[in-house]
Amino acid sequence: MTKTVCIQGLGFVGFAMAIAVASAKNINTQKPLYQVIGVDLDNRIGRKKIKEINDGEFPISCNDKELENAYFDVLKAKNFKATTNTNYFKKADYVIVDINLDVSIKGEFSNIDFDNFKNAIKTIGQNIKKDTLVVIETTIPPGTTEKLIYPILVKEFEKRFDKEINPKLAHSYERVMPGPEYLSSIINFWRVYSGIDKESEISCEKFLSTIINTEKYPLQKLSSCNASELSKVLENSYRAINIAFIEEWGIFAENIGVNLFEVLNAIKIRPTHSNIRNPGLGVGGYCLTKDPLMGYVSKNHFFKNFSGEFPITKKAIEINNLMPFRTYEITNNYIKEHNLNKKILILGLSYRDQVGDIRNSASIDLAKYFLKNKYSINSHDPLVKEEISSELGYLKKLPKAELFSGIVLTVSHNFYRELNILNWLKNFKGLFLDANNILSENNIQKIKNKNINLKIIGRGDL
Ligand SMILES: NC(=O)c1ccc[n+]([C@@H]2O[C@H](COP(=O)([O-])OP(=O)(O)OC[C@H]3O[C@@H](n4cnc5c(N)ncnc54)[C@H](O)[C@@H]3O)[C@@H](O)[C@H]2O)c1
Repeated sequence: MTKTVCIQGLGFVGFAMAIAVASAKNINTQKPLYQVIGVDLDNRIGRKKIKEINDGEFPISCNDKELENAYFDVLKAKNFKATTNTNYFKKADYVIVDINLDVSIKGEFSNIDFDNFKNAIKTIGQNIKKDTLVVIETTIPPGTTEKLIYPILVKEFEKRFDKEINPKLAHSYERVMPGPEYLSSIINFWRVYSGIDKESEISCEKFLSTIINTEKYPLQKLSSCNASELSKVLENSYRAINIAFIEEWGIFAENIGVNLFEVLNAIKIRPTHSNIRNPGLGVGGYCLTKDPLMGYVSKNHFFKNFSGEFPITKKAIEINNLMPFRTYEITNNYIKEHNLNKKILILGLSYRDQVGDIRNSASIDLAKYFLKNKYSINSHDPLVKEEISSELGYLKKLPKAELFSGIVLTVSHNFYRELNILNWLKNFKGLFLDANNILSENNIQKIKNKNINLKIIGRGDL
């Protein structure tokens, strides 16, 4: 019989996961393995999202045709729908939790609000069957599964079932990469998991093996949910720290006339150093900006006896938060020095290339510095679907370059890579700043030959 899977939270992760699960097929019959029900909040945004999904309007902005096609296929097969009705949890054999758990990245480092998260888990506990497996994919501070989620489920089970019935619970974090390989990054990638007990562990392994290509990407079992949670926040913290580390060398390189990208390419040849990061505008997005805070949050909430302070991580977050200021400063200094008017165009608003997600975008932080310093700004991004605050002067169509005295290219969308940049810049007289090493070497040379003022973050050789 087809099993039912409820996905709680239909955001960037939950929606894609829902499609991955609904696309899983019985290898013999090629029939869908699961009936998938996505559950989101009964508020204005939630209802809008659900209507879009059920009406066949692809709800996120991305350029992964595979995800888009799979979405239309599962709608046609009628094994995926979205709802705000939490009663559907009653039918679930599996519940996947993909809701957000926000941590404030400004001010107090331990600023986290568990209320919505706790309510979400309580709703699951009030509705699921006694043998439903709950899989937590949300990124959470180490300790949350054992010390917060499990007790809530147990409490709700005690109200409805015999005392001996324990909830089945596992943690298995997402590594989904929004972008051109969105769906594939769920199905064709390594997955870590752990169960609260042996039964949950086995059930989670069986379930994941029906979704993920485990022949090529074997599952990695960790020995506790604490370990699995820590694994997620540590891998993202590692990346954030790597970026902060390169930031200081980027500044040095720019000041001593060195092209840091050339240096990094020479270093990356060593297999031990192949994932060293690049200098750039800054760290954005929902994950890298908050996940490094999770260790600190964990200690404050669940492991109060631990006295460590995560000083390196904290410093890295501080550096990363300040990165866009440097791009602002370079542009501002140039504009002041040349007595130009304060009109800026920002090309790219999303937090990374080929996606429309603007959460914690470094481009928006950059825009805020300009606004704070009385600049008039316009911004452009071909992929953003969300409403943009009017102060960012968002333009759907690329304006004439000569209307601005500074242009900052921030995101490596194909649109900008494919633009005939030289033609577009032919009457431009200000500063063109490439904040993420987006221009090709060929275009850099052509721009220089035309005597256009060009700066690139991380390059002191121009
Ligand atoms: N975005 C990424 O690239 C990525 C990658 C890996 C892991 N993650 C992690 O996955 C989790 C989800 O991230 P996201 O980007 O999808 O977030 P998101 O904000 O896009 O989506 C979260 C969704 O959950 C819904 N929601 C919140 N509370 C709910 C509730 N009580 N019941 C039902 N729905 C509820 C929200 O309305 C929203 O639609 C986060 O923990 C994130 O850190 C994200």
